[in-house]
This record gives sequence, C-alpha cells and structure tokens, in this order.
Amino acid sequence: MTYRVIQWGTGAVGVEALAAVLDDRPDLDLVGVRVYSDAKDGVDVGELLGRPPVGVLATTDVEAILGLDADCVIYTPRITNLEDVCALLAGGKNVVTTAFLFHPRRLPDADRERLLAACTAGGTTVHGGGLNPGNLSGALPLVLSGMSRRIDKITLQERADWSDYDSTHITFDNMSFGRPVDEIRVDGTEFLAFNNELFSEQVWLLADALGADIDEVTSSVEAVPARHDHQIFDHVLTAGTTAGQRWNWVGVRDGEPLIEIETLWTVGNEYPDQWPRPKHGWTLTIEGDPSMQTHFFSLASFTREATMAEHVRAANVATAMQVLNAVPEVCDAEPGFATLATLPLIRSHTGFRRQ
Ligand SMILES: NC(=O)c1ccc[n+]([C@@H]2O[C@H](COP(=O)([O-])OP(=O)(O)OC[C@H]3O[C@@H](n4cnc5c(N)ncnc54)[C@H](OP(=O)(O)O)[C@@H]3O)[C@@H](O)[C@H]2O)c1
Repeated sequence: MTYRVIQWGTGAVGVEALAAVLDDRPDLDLVGVRVYSDAKDGVDVGELLGRPPVGVLATTDVEAILGLDADCVIYTPRITNLEDVCALLAGGKNVVTTAFLFHPRRLPDADRERLLAACTAGGTTVHGGGLNPGNLSGALPLVLSGMSRRIDKITLQERADWSDYDSTHITFDNMSFGRPVDEIRVDGTEFLAFNNELFSEQVWLLADALGADIDEVTSSVEAVPARHDHQIFDHVLTAGTTAGQRWNWVGVRDGEPLIEIETLWTVGNEYPDQWPRPKHGWTLTIEGDPSMQTHFFSLASFTREATMAEHVRAANVATAMQVLNAVPEVCDAEPGFATLATLPLIRSHTGFRRQ
C-alpha cells in the first residue's frame, strides 16, 4: 500500500523526514510541501535539500496544501496552529506531528472538542510523537513497565546543552534563552506556557496509561544566568541573561510525586553547580519492584568519526523518524486521537534494509 504524504515545515526536523520519504520509503509518495519563508516558495523540494529536482514544489499557500489529495501530513512547524491542523483533519488528511498533541485527551476542553470534531468530520486520526516529548517519555517507560510488578515512581531526566542546536529560532525566540532570567516562568510567554503544557500532557499520558490516578501535574522552572558571553551561531548570548533552564513537571497523587519529567537545559555549556548531574542525554528511572534505570543517548555513530553537526543531527533524525515510522499505523487507526500508549509499537520500516 502507498500513502500520499505532505511535509509541513522544512526546518531541522522536517528535512530529515523529507529525505527519508524521498530516499528510503517507496511506500510514501510525496505530494506536497508547506514552507513559511518566501525564499522557499515555489522552490523544488530537491533543491531545498541540496540535490537534483524531484518535481514537487514547496509552497507557502495553505489553501493549495489543503486542496491536495493526501493520506497524511507530517506536521513539523516551529509554531503550531490548531486551526490549520483541524482543517487538515476535517479535509480527510491524517496528521502526525513532532510539535504538539502528544495526549490530546488532556487538552483544554474547547481545543479537544474542536480537534475531535475535525477528526470525526474527516474520518482521520492525529498523533504527536518524537524523542522527548515522544518515545523516551511515552513509549520507553511503557515498554519497561511491562517488567514491573509495582511502580512507586517514574522519573525522566533530560540533560542537554543546546549550543549546537541550529534551530536558533527555537532556542532564542521560542524558549527565551538570552532573555532576562525573571522572564522565564512557566507562563512567562505564550511559548513557555505552550512548552509547559506539552510536558504536562506527557506526564498525564503516562499517568493515564498506567492507572496512576493522579490529582494534578505541577510545574516549575528555574532560570540561571550566563557568567560569560557566548556566540551561538549568529546570536550572542550575553552574560547575565538566561543560559540555563531547569523545568520540572510532577504528577501528584495525594500529595505524593509519582511521575516526574525534569529537563536540565543549558546554552553556552555553563552547567550550574546546584543542579543534579545525570549523564548527558536521557535517564529514565522506574522505582518499584523491580527498580530499573536506563540511559539513552543518540549520536551519528558510536564507531566512526563524525562531526559535532552530524551528532546534533542525530536527535533530529530520531525525532522525525518516530513520527514518520508511525504514518501507516496512524492512517490505519480508528478516527480520533492516537498516542504512543494506544498505537501498536512503532518500529523502523527501513532499519535493516539492504543498501
Ligand atoms: N518531540 C520532540 O522530541 C521534538 C524534538 C525537536 C523538535 N521538536 C519540535 O518539532 C518542530 C520542528 O522543529 P525544528 O527543529 O525542525 O524547527 P526549525 O528548524 O526551527 O524549523 C521549523 C519550521 O518552522 C517554520 N516556520 C517559520 N516561521 C514560522 C511560523 N511563523 N510559524 C510556524 N512555523 C514557522 C520554518 O519554515 P521555513 O523554513 O519555510 O521558514 C521551518 O520549516 C518544532 O515544533 C519543535 O519544537 C520536537
């Protein structure tokens, strides 16, 4: 079976999905690409990827995208738009996204109802996935929980320095690194509030999937100023502005923390002395019977030499593949919401393929 797909957004994650659709997935037929910048409008997608033309032109025209006949949209913009997603779903296009909708059941009522109505109208399904939020905060804990008799607490810690993440719009514009530390609050900007909701949803996903019966998800953030100036691509992060953000989301039942996601993020690599010091990457701990711990780290390779840029790309590849690999399952799912707790285990469609 072949699925016609549209790529929405051609940033760091989007181009990895696009390359995989073109190179590795004969079962996925690229029929359209949505871009935002005028410079990319009308440009052949091959050219956007630095390769020969492929015969599909990128467009900024949303109506043209909505008018295409497609099975699924891979939705990876920097800033999400629920209206666009609802229009896609109502128009008969399934949506997989790395940007939001990780556990739509826990969205504010009005948004959830709107999304569900769009899925019902179009007979379509929406799924949010990725690395974190995504596999590591959804699928992996659930898979490990299959070996549990009793779970007391689940903790996922992400430690990452973003200095080499080339989506500087996300680092500086969205996540407010380089801004005064007193601006960094869980609801400090529209995007920080959005970020807060994403990870809160992820805690709810585990709680709902594992019957934790939590009362609430609490959240907090601590911002730390840079001691020195740092050149981050074309941005200068100046001393005294935000260079570290420690976020905590905690699912609480009867006052007891049961599920915690903590992110320890820096830009400029000045790691604060007072923060916990897990290894770089992701550390997942399940305290219970038995207690388990696993550490995840992605690189371009563990055996060959690779540049820092290639290593950084590895996380973008992982993020993109987690949703791209879900396309057939999402297209085949019942209309409505599909999460990492309800979909079958997502696996590589091309992993050991002969070159
Ligand atoms: N779940 C996870 O594990 C995970 C991990 C990494 C990223 N993400 C999310 O995945 C998404 C893509 O990340 P990325 O690293 O690819 O980001 P990115 O490199 O900054 O690029 C994202 C895209 O956003 C587009 N864009 C420009 N202006 C926009 C606007 N006003 N509104 C919406 N989009 C606009 C850009 O289009 P043009 O190039 O055409 O200008 C670009 O294609 C983001 O939402 C990010 O937060 C999730």
